[in-house]
Amino acid sequence: MQQKLFNVEETKKTYRALRHDVVRKKQLDYCNTLHHPDQKIKQIKNVLSEICGWGDLSILELFAGQGNLTKIYAEYGEVLANEYKGKVFDKLTENIKECALVHCNKVDSFLDFHELISIKQKFDVVDLDPYGFPNRFFPDVFLLIDKGIMFVTMPKPYVNIMNGITRAHLISYYGEHNPSKEKIIEKIATWGICHWRKVELIDCVDCKSVWRFAFKVEKVKATEYTGVKNK
Ligand SMILES: C[S@@+](CC[C@H](N)C(=O)[O-])C[C@H]1O[C@@H](n2cnc3c(N)ncnc32)[C@H](O)[C@@H]1O
Repeated sequence: MQQKLFNVEETKKTYRALRHDVVRKKQLDYCNTLHHPDQKIKQIKNVLSEICGWGDLSILELFAGQGNLTKIYAEYGEVLANEYKGKVFDKLTENIKECALVHCNKVDSFLDFHELISIKQKFDVVDLDPYGFPNRFFPDVFLLIDKGIMFVTMPKPYVNIMNGITRAHLISYYGEHNPSKEKIIEKIATWGICHWRKVELIDCVDCKSVWRFAFKVEKVKATEYTGVKNK
């Protein structure tokens, strides 16, 4: 008989808190049911073939995990694949060893993306697929793309356990603790303008507890964008 992870009667936790614990355990075990690789891969293929269609893309994957998406990205160009967790990183390098154009980096992406910005590196595709909220990458992540695509995994705020930290985090980024999908998309587009990037949502896939957004990103001239001429 399958062993139960938690016994509801023996704990005072709510159902939502227990479900949260189960998700955390699955994250620790790198359980693929959390990652929705099929839906993400389908979206990547649709978007990259229709919008870009290039074979020589430069791709930054900030949360590569064991490489479900890395192997797909490798078909479109050169991939820089970041993953900081030791055992997961080892699996990643094993899984992509046949892909010549993939470089794996065992780094903390929350810090590494600042380094990439400081050396003025640019990518055609940036993929943000953390377990939690990706908000801390905004607005500066846009400095990594002059023209291209950004895929973002965004947890649905209303399915999260709202502890004080998550509430304060969401309020600081969105002005409210439970922003809607539309509000989040609008904010991300506004953050693009902080660095003069026009950001347009071109696809959104609903993957149970997260949305997977695909944005088209393009650098614009401040004068042209605002219609203001410099004297
Ligand atoms: C949602 S999973 C990625 C799944 C992967 N993109 C896929 O579709 O198979 C998030 C991954 O990010 C890794 N991770 C968490 N924090 C990180 C950080 N600060 N820098 C780099 N990787 C991190 C985790 O170990 C985990 O493997």
